[in-house]
Amino acid sequence: MSPSSSESGIETFPSPSPSAREHSEKLTAQIRAEIDREGGSIGFPRFMELALYSPGLGYYSAGSRKFGGEGDFVTAPELGPLFARCLARWLVNRTPESGPLDILEIGAGSGELAVELLAELDRLGRPLNRYCILEVSAELRARQQQALRRNERVCWLDTWPDSFNGVVLANEVVDALPVERFEIGPGGPCGLGVCWRDGGFRELRLPAGKALLQRVAEIEACVGTSLPVGFRSEYCPMLEAWMRSLSAALERGIVLLADYGLPRSELYHRDRGQGTLRCHYRHRAHDDPFVLVGLQDITAWVDFTALADAGIDAGLELEGFVTQAHFLLGAGMTELLAAEAESGQFGLREQAKQLVLPGEMGERFKMMVFSRDWPDDRAEPGIHDMRHRL
Ligand SMILES: C[S@@+](CC[C@H](N)C(=O)[O-])C[C@H]1O[C@@H](n2cnc3c(N)ncnc32)[C@H](O)[C@@H]1O
Repeated sequence: MSPSSSESGIETFPSPSPSAREHSEKLTAQIRAEIDREGGSIGFPRFMELALYSPGLGYYSAGSRKFGGEGDFVTAPELGPLFARCLARWLVNRTPESGPLDILEIGAGSGELAVELLAELDRLGRPLNRYCILEVSAELRARQQQALRRNERVCWLDTWPDSFNGVVLANEVVDALPVERFEIGPGGPCGLGVCWRDGGFRELRLPAGKALLQRVAEIEACVGTSLPVGFRSEYCPMLEAWMRSLSAALERGIVLLADYGLPRSELYHRDRGQGTLRCHYRHRAHDDPFVLVGLQDITAWVDFTALADAGIDAGLELEGFVTQAHFLLGAGMTELLAAEAESGQFGLREQAKQLVLPGEMGERFKMMVFSRDWPDDRAEPGIHDMRHRL
C-alpha cells in the first residue's frame, strides 16, 4: 500500500454509506456466529480470513472499490504504467529469447499489472504465450476479466497448476495472507484471539500453541535476545504451506514476490514492539482491525527471512533480495525516464518518485526472487542484493 495512506484516528474517517454499513453488519453477524459456535473465541488468522475473504462479504470478496484514488490504497501497478514497464524489461532480460513465455500472476487485484505487462512485452518484441491468473476473490476475478476481456492469451485458474513453466509474479499478496498476533506476557508468549464483548469484537489472550512458541523462539534466536514483556507482533502461519503450493506448481522458472516488509532481525526489533498490522480505509491507515469490518483492508509487514526460509525449504533457490528502488533502477527505469524526457513528456516522473524515493515506496517495498532450474545469470533481481541481511 502506498504512503498516500496517512495515519489517523478513526473518528476522522469518512462515514461509510448506509449500504456499506449494512454490508459490514452482515459480515460482523457472520463472524460473531462463528465465535459463538467455537465456544466464545476464534484465532486472529481466522478473523482476518473472514474479514478479507468470506465469500460475498469479505473485503476482497465483495464489491468495494479498494484500489486507486477512489479506493482505500494504491499499489505500485495502480500508480500508472511505469512499474509494469520496468518489470517487462527485467523479464525480457531474465527469460530465454526463444520459446514461449508464460506468466502466472497470483492475486492480480484490478488486473492493471497484467494489462500493462502484456502491452509492454508486445512493444518490446517479447510477446507472451499465456498470462494465467490465480485469484481467490470472485469479485476481483470478474473485474480482471472486464479489464482483460479482449485478450485471448489470458486465462484464470481455480487452483495452482500441476506443472507451470515460466515466471510467477505476486505483488502485495503475501502481506494479505492472514496473520497470527501475539504478545509476550509475564508468563511467556500468548496468542491474541478475538471474542465478542460489550457490543464489539475484542482482543483476548489465548494460550500459545506449539507453532507460536516455536516462532517466538526463532525470532529470539535471530534478534539475539528475549523479546520483552509487552512486546506485540504478528507472523504468517500459512506462509510455509503457501510457498510449498507455489513450489509444487513450478516445474521450471522464476518467482518474483514483491511486498513491504523487513528481514526478521529488523521486523522484530524492540522498537517495533507494537507490531506492523495496519488497516486501510479510504487512504487512512490505522491499527484497529475490529472496526469497519469488511470495508477496510487488513495487512501486516512481511517477514522476508521467513519467506526466504519457506521458499528454500520448499525446494526453490533464493536468487536475490533487493529494495523496490534498486530493482526498478536495475531494470532500466532511468533509461525509460530519459527517453520520455527526450520526447518532451514527463508523465512518468511522478510515478518514479513514488516508486523509488526512500520516504515513499522505494525502501519499504522489497523484491525477493526464487528460481527452479533456471540459468544463474538470468535470475538475479537487480543491484545491491541484501540476502546477507536475512
Ligand atoms: C493487496 S491486493 C494486491 C493486488 C495486486 N497484486 C496489486 O498489486 O495491485 C492482494 C491481492 O491478492 C489476492 N489474494 C490474497 N490471497 C490470495 C491467495 N491465497 N491466492 C491468490 N490470490 C490471493 C487478493 O484477492 C488481491 O487480489
